[in-house]
Amino acid sequence: MQDTTGRTIRYLRLSVTDRCNLRCRYCAPGAVSHTAATELTAAQIEEIAAAAIALGMDKIRITGGEPLMRPDILDICRRVAALPGLNELCMTTNGILLADYAEELRKAGVNRVNISLDTLDADKFRTFTRGGELADVLRGIEAAEAAGLTPIKLNVVLMGGENDDEISAFVALTRDRPINVRFIELMPIGESADWPAERFISGDAVLSACPELQSNPQDGDGVARIYRLPGGVGKVGLISPMSRHFCARCNRIRVTADGKLKPCLHSEQEITLQGLHGEALADALRAGIAAKPKAHNMDANHPSESRRNMHQIGG
Ligand code: 5AD
Ligand code: SF4
Repeated sequence: MQDTTGRTIRYLRLSVTDRCNLRCRYCAPGAVSHTAATELTAAQIEEIAAAAIALGMDKIRITGGEPLMRPDILDICRRVAALPGLNELCMTTNGILLADYAEELRKAGVNRVNISLDTLDADKFRTFTRGGELADVLRGIEAAEAAGLTPIKLNVVLMGGENDDEISAFVALTRDRPINVRFIELMPIGESADWPAERFISGDAVLSACPELQSNPQDGDGVARIYRLPGGVGKVGLISPMSRHFCARCNRIRVTADGKLKPCLHSEQEITLQGLHGEALADALRAGIAAKPKAHNMDANHPSESRRNMHQIGG
């Protein structure tokens, strides 16, 4: 379906829980939330996904929080994957539980996974995530490769003074492995809304750190600028929501774990889907697409207008 500015909306990001087994400093507040009670059921998720597909969505990404925290995650994936008209079912995960799930996810119909990983240093990982074990994620990546959840994308949020010294190490992963490393500019949303200015660095820092990267525009997927190391097997993507707005190419809507449709990640507008069925559900989805703003207003001095933390929206 097209929105009011002519963008074709075909990508639904569905958060299935805001629970998470990590507490990344830019994403989740220190205290743990217990909101399983307000989560959409697997049947409701299936119903929303089917209604979205009927309106022309053909790609669905399951997000969180951490989607693998849901005991019924395989059931959810099976139900959504079975819907006719869907081209691609993906998941974004922090990878902690992925080693145990990769094979089952593939069998449940998930095509591929994006894994969030901001450091390759085990001590830093513990600090960034407030206690996570890097080794779990590395095993998860291997399991995802073995299970064919490919091409794997690694999402690295750039944080000045924290992980910009690891840019080359992340880029080096793409030399021999078919991994797409994507550097994402830190956005001032939720926990990071009032972080110091030096944490926010431009995606161009990657090009300064690795001048050998070669631009590959034909690999572009809309929001990312794509590069490769000479002879490299994998790719390097730069996702720059701050320095290069890509709102004009936005093709997505989001649903939160408690069943609110967000027309834009950064606006406070939310449309309740929970409890709606049939034509009422389709109307609410249409209204959400029609309500997509032309662009976000976020910059260094204006944090996101979304009142939620990222673990509630799923990125
Ligand atoms: N800025 C940029 N990316 C963020 N994510 C979470 N919070 C932020 C932020 N403030 C990313 C995660 C993950 C995806 C779901 O969103 O690292 O890759
Ligand atoms: Fe959990 Fe992802 Fe947020 Fe980290 S960024 S706390 S892994 S939802």
